[in-house]
Amino acid sequence: MTSAGEVAWLLRAMALARRAALVAALALAVLAGARWPGVGRPAAAAGPFLDPHGGYTATADACATCHRTHTGAGGGGLNRAAPQSNVCFVCHNGTGANSNVASEYSDTNVPPNDPATSSFYAHPATTLSTHTNGQVDEFAGVLNRHAACGDCHNPHAANAAAPVQTANGWLASGALAKISGANAASPPAWVNPITYEDELCRKCHSSYTLQLSYTKASQQKYDVGAEFDPANTSYHPVEAPGRNASSALQQSLAGGKLWNFTTSSTIRCVNCHGNYRLVGSPAVPGTPPGDARLAPHTSRYRGLLIANYRDRDLKPANELYNSGDFALCFLCHREAPFTDVSGDPRPDTNYPFHGVHISGIRGMGAGGLEIDTAGAGQGNAICAECHFRTHGTAFAPWSANRTYPGDVNFAPDVQPVSGAAAPVWDRAARTCTLVCHGKSHNPMRY
Ligand code: HEC
Ligand code: HEC
Ligand code: HEC
Ligand code: HEC
Ligand code: HEC
Ligand code: HEC
Ligand code: HEC
Repeated sequence: MTSAGEVAWLLRAMALARRAALVAALALAVLAGARWPGVGRPAAAAGPFLDPHGGYTATADACATCHRTHTGAGGGGLNRAAPQSNVCFVCHNGTGANSNVASEYSDTNVPPNDPATSSFYAHPATTLSTHTNGQVDEFAGVLNRHAACGDCHNPHAANAAAPVQTANGWLASGALAKISGANAASPPAWVNPITYEDELCRKCHSSYTLQLSYTKASQQKYDVGAEFDPANTSYHPVEAPGRNASSALQQSLAGGKLWNFTTSSTIRCVNCHGNYRLVGSPAVPGTPPGDARLAPHTSRYRGLLIANYRDRDLKPANELYNSGDFALCFLCHREAPFTDVSGDPRPDTNYPFHGVHISGIRGMGAGGLEIDTAGAGQGNAICAECHFRTHGTAFAPWSANRTYPGDVNFAPDVQPVSGAAAPVWDRAARTCTLVCHGKSHNPMRY
């Protein structure tokens, strides 16, 4: 039990810290307002467990579940030694809360992060880091790669409210209540609290901050702010609905195995970078729903993806089509066009040669298997050879492809024809002019 005197001591001690003004303001807000303004608090979700993340009164004993004064082991008066996850895992380990985040971090299917090959499977929330406090800007213009629980959640405000789809992107859920981020302005600006869910991600994955850098195009980290900018010619619709309202794309989306978004939808980062454990195999339509808690804590799939996506390793000469290679895409897009090798027009794709390339060109070509190497390729194609960056075309490796519609941008293994600057796709003429897997298309019509 914590007495009012102990709370006062805690606050005094914290006021001595260098974030004095902020800490005092927060403490007043925490103690004065029983609730954060504007945050609903549906009662049902907490099951048998007492939710400690708010609803405080002036004599709140609840503070002591995470803060201890005289014996405090962690920084900021926390009652467990750093990293901060130790405080959270007292409950979020299956014993004190419904959501068991500790098990996501001890999941043996999740490979360790490997920065050398740009292979990431987890937000590194359980390792020691330079984290100070999520209310403080630690990221503007610097390379400070870390992600503690408190970078993404405000433990004084988290609640059960669902995220909400709008035409400007998804509003952040209660799990992300009162956390800081960076907005979609150019250049991005600090916002605290965030309004849209992706503003949290922009804090660490946009030009607001500095990111890791790689030489191979398939490993490079990019500015998600620039990639999803609705002023671009094509992009996945995170910040605004997409530009392609064709009936074929509409039908593609109607055939998704998990979700049925439309060409008017906006989608969430976590629809693609989310909790893979929630997706059944085979996927059960609508389970989980698109607005579920889809935490991007850890994944068995590289890129912290919610389902598998093969985008770096080209297919050896005789490898057959395998649906699981592109499971991520088929959560939202109909799979059928990719096994139809007839080349005949279909109502569910604008590109009738999808199936020919994905399932019908085994053994064509004598190149290597690395997508970053010019002239590579010897078997069935993978999506990334023609849709190299899924987010959008803003950073297509061939700069001439950066203003292409249709999310079409050719990978570095695809080559221009002799004398041309880049591989060319002409949507209106329905032609490609390029060399791929050693095969010249000069031009090829579909
Ligand atoms: C569920 C755990 C939890 C509870 C309950 C809790 N805190 Fe905190 N508190 C934290 C964590 C974790 C941090 C560090 C947050 C970060 O890294 O951004 C923190 C930080 C603070 C800070 C520093 C300023 C800030 O916002 O980071 C103050 C002051 C504070 N808490 C006061 C309180 C008071 C007063 C109560 C009770 C009314 C309380 N806390 C209840 C976990 C908790
Ligand atoms: C004393 C136990 C306890 C501690 C410690 C604790 N939590 Fe919680 N937390 C809960 C309970 C209970 C809920 C209600 C939902 C549930 O049961 O999962 C909850 C809910 C949440 C939610 C919202 C979940 C949702 O979507 O409804 C977030 C986010 C969260 N906690 C993060 C944290 C973080 C971050 C920490 C560490 C700084 C932490 N919690 C520490 C017990 C705790
Ligand atoms: C439609 C699915 C999809 C959506 C939506 C999506 N991503 Fe991705 N993301 C991918 C895939 C697939 C990759 C792997 C490389 C590639 O194909 O672009 C990736 C790669 C990444 C990477 C590593 C490479 C890089 O460029 O830095 C980060 C970070 C990332 N995404 C963050 C985000 C954020 C933040 C959002 C929301 C603003 C988001 N993603 C939305 C599918 C998606
Ligand atoms: C990089 C940001 C990030 C970090 C770091 C992070 N989380 Fe989350 N967390 C999220 C997002 C995003 C969600 C999903 C929100 C949604 O879907 O509405 C989430 C969801 C949750 C939930 C809701 C329940 C659930 O099952 O998803 C809890 C509880 C939670 N996180 C606790 C933690 C704890 C504890 C840590 C530290 C070990 C942590 N988070 C680290 C971003 C993060
Ligand atoms: C506080 C900083 C922070 C925030 C906020 C954050 N991330 Fe990250 N994220 C990281 C760090 C650190 C890594 C590890 C790799 C690195 O340093 O780029 C990472 C890795 C990733 C990866 C794997 C990248 C790869 O190259 O494979 C994806 C995908 C990702 N984050 C998506 C998200 C999404 C989606 C959100 C918002 C819900 C988000 N992140 C919010 C810090 C953050
Ligand atoms: C050989 C190049 C190539 C490959 C490989 C390829 N695509 Fe495409 N894709 C295209 C072109 C070209 C378009 C644009 C057609 C248009 O808009 O006129 C397109 C359009 C799309 C569309 C928009 C809807 C439609 O079908 O018109 C989706 C979705 C799509 N591709 C998904 C994928 C997925 C998933 C894969 C891997 C399983 C893949 N593509 C592999 C060339 C390719
Ligand atoms: C969470 C759902 C979701 C996932 C997963 C997803 N997409 Fe999409 N995709 C969409 C939506 C929604 C649109 C419609 C955008 C529009 O109307 O312009 C779209 C559009 C596209 C387009 C056409 C873009 C344009 O401007 O014409 C291509 C190509 C595409 N997706 C490829 C992929 C590939 C490849 C994957 C797998 C790596 C994938 N998508 C995964 C939701 C998704």
